[in-house]
Amino acid sequence: MDRRVIYADLTVSRDSGPESSSPSSFPQDLCQGPRWHQFALKLGCAGVTLLVLAVIGLTVSVISLLQKSPIEKSSVDVQQNRNETTESAQLSECLALWLPLQKKCLFLSQDTNFWNDSLSYCSTKESSLLLIQDQEELKLIQELIKDTAINFWIGLNFTLSEKNWKWINGSFLNSAILNIKGDAEENSCAYISKTGVSFEECYADNKLICQKQRNPVINKVCPDS
Ligand SMILES: *[C@@H]1O[C@H](CO)[C@@H](O)[C@H](O)[C@H]1NC(C)=O
Ligand SMILES: *[C@@H]1O[C@H](CO)[C@@H](O)[C@H](O)[C@H]1NC(C)=O
Ligand SMILES: *[C@@H]1O[C@H](CO)[C@@H](O)[C@H](O)[C@H]1NC(C)=O
Ligand SMILES: *[C@@H]1O[C@H](CO)[C@@H](O)[C@H](O)[C@H]1NC(C)=O
Repeated sequence: MDRRVIYADLTVSRDSGPESSSPSSFPQDLCQGPRWHQFALKLGCAGVTLLVLAVIGLTVSVISLLQKSPIEKSSVDVQQNRNETTESAQLSECLALWLPLQKKCLFLSQDTNFWNDSLSYCSTKESSLLLIQDQEELKLIQELIKDTAINFWIGLNFTLSEKNWKWINGSFLNSAILNIKGDAEENSCAYISKTGVSFEECYADNKLICQKQRNPVINKVCPDS
């Protein structure tokens, strides 16, 4: 058994030896011979053809990858940059004369008005009278106010029926967040000044602060409101 196998191997190598060692002979010449030989050669030719095609295909795909990769890389870079800028400046700019403050744009008026007229003034500017969320925001707004003698109406007034301070968004004042000193009466409206939040008769003339929420620049479609 073992000898036979070795013998078979030797005959194959002996037969194919002179053929492969003669580089001057063309494949067409080689293809003429015994039938089994021809068949083997055809098979070999097909293999070589397939190999050449595979190499061409691989080369083309490598070239196209090399051409594509810088573009893909740069698009990733752009996306990362966008992400970074999104994080640093994801909110819309404020209009001229409006000051950015965290997630709001604020308008500090020059003119004075009654509280009720101030309320409608802000709504004509597609905004509302100022709502103060917390002590931090209060401090930041007080820093924006230059003149200690000026009062600015905010969106907070006293409701006699409920005997409570009420924001114009309908929420009652949380005295843990903002405390207004003094006993309010009918027609009391709140203002902010450099020194804090206080109140006055609603038909006093004061300046006013309007606020507008800043929208995210990229995800404008987001229906949060
Ligand atoms: C992009 O921003 C989102 C949201 O801020 C964050 O979760 C994500 O990790 C950021 N991706 C990169 C690549 O910085
Ligand atoms: C505000 O009140 C005054 C006095 O009552 C009134 O003349 C004026 O029309 C009111 N303004 C608005 C916008 O309701
Ligand atoms: C109304 O505004 C106040 C002050 O900014 C805030 O504390 C409260 O949560 C708001 N209420 C609603 C319903 O948005
Ligand atoms: C207080 O504000 C509410 C709106 O939140 C308004 O309807 C009401 O007229 C105001 N009160 C006064 C005295 O201006």
